[in-house]
Amino acid sequence: MGFKKDFIWGAASAAYQVEGAAFEDGKGLNIWDAFSHEKGKIFDNHNGDTACDQYHRLEEDLNIMSELGLQSYRFSVSWARILPNGTGEVNEKGIEFYNRLINGLTKRGIKPCMTLYHWDLPYALHLKGGWLNDSSPEWFGEYAGVIKKYFGDRVHDFITFNEPQVFVGCGYFEGVHAPGYKLSKAELLRIGHNVLKAHGTAVKELRKGEECRIGITGASCPAIPVSESSEDIEAAKRCYYESNYDAFVFSDAYWLDPVFKGKYPDWVYGFEEINKPVITDDDLKLICQPIDFLGMNIYNGKYVSAKNGVLPNPQGFSRTAIGWPVTPEALYWGPKFMFERYGKPIIITENGMACHDAVSLDGNVHDENRIDYFRRYLREYKRAADDGINLNGYYVWSLTDNFEWGHGYNQRFGLTYIDYGTQKRIIKDSGMFIKDVIKCNGENL
Ligand code: GCO
Repeated sequence: MGFKKDFIWGAASAAYQVEGAAFEDGKGLNIWDAFSHEKGKIFDNHNGDTACDQYHRLEEDLNIMSELGLQSYRFSVSWARILPNGTGEVNEKGIEFYNRLINGLTKRGIKPCMTLYHWDLPYALHLKGGWLNDSSPEWFGEYAGVIKKYFGDRVHDFITFNEPQVFVGCGYFEGVHAPGYKLSKAELLRIGHNVLKAHGTAVKELRKGEECRIGITGASCPAIPVSESSEDIEAAKRCYYESNYDAFVFSDAYWLDPVFKGKYPDWVYGFEEINKPVITDDDLKLICQPIDFLGMNIYNGKYVSAKNGVLPNPQGFSRTAIGWPVTPEALYWGPKFMFERYGKPIIITENGMACHDAVSLDGNVHDENRIDYFRRYLREYKRAADDGINLNGYYVWSLTDNFEWGHGYNQRFGLTYIDYGTQKRIIKDSGMFIKDVIKCNGENL
């Protein structure tokens, strides 16, 4: 059976990680501009001021996408580039940049897939309390309206939020991402509710005018049954769906149940009423408007047995350069379980591997490990397609090496190598591998 005929293959990126031009052409500051300039926050004090300089090297990157045969490019908009204060005045230069990007894609037959929020909150809104401010859903709605007005004639695939788990969990709970806060449960639950309301408000704006597909993308670490016995499968499913109050911010269900089922999971608000933000029926209606797909960013999973729960990986288990375990079955069980729970088409919006890439004497980057990773993961994803799970697409993280948040430029995920000294691009062997995969719709896996 394999992947459907209209399955979409692409690569993904995010504004702060690739664009650079952080202080040019009227762009406003965002929380990552500020955070990355604080000493000691990022590996070797790197920052995204220049990143991959995509702002100035757009044509080159668009040509690389063509060369790789991408059918879609998933990118995010820098909110403060088009609305320097987060709301109000529109920055024409910012609109111009995204027009160049979108037109460059459509000219090449590559579908734009636009993420509205990949973590770079305008600093002006941060100063007003950011997501803690109960007006934040309206700010986000205004931003979504601007997006739809300027780009909605050519962009038909939208993702509201990328990984609320990570930007709230790492940014406002662990304090290792911007804005570097360690907030209380009550505050986190308030942020969570505002982010979800912002999602709903944006969906309403995006639905105006031309028809489009809308999704939300979560960070997911699927539970993988250690055997295919029904007991292990049930145990894995339970472990995946259920979390607990202490870990709610990193769970899937806390964020996705309200979006797809119109209610928070019982284990979130079963107790500690004191921390509960005001949640009205109208809020839940707003959050739960019909959307078209679930985006999943999956890099690894955890093995679970009925007898012993979550199992530790054996010593010496395969890990990527960033330290994440290699668990290909995550790309089978994750989509399968989430399709069973929410019944929505699934798109893998990110999957990929950090490697110790180096340029060889012959001038090329021979990243055999990454090719092997893709082959293993994509075979599992194909198995999910064979089982009849409704899969609509797959995006590699990432088109190019880029600014990997707290790891700076020290971790490389790209299909394209970047020499940050010269900004020279080299398509890696894995890029050519993915090109072949795309050409035959995964038949060569
Ligand atoms: C995330 C983001 C990406 C990362 C990628 C590798 O998942 O953290 O969506 O921006 O760069 O996932 O960590």
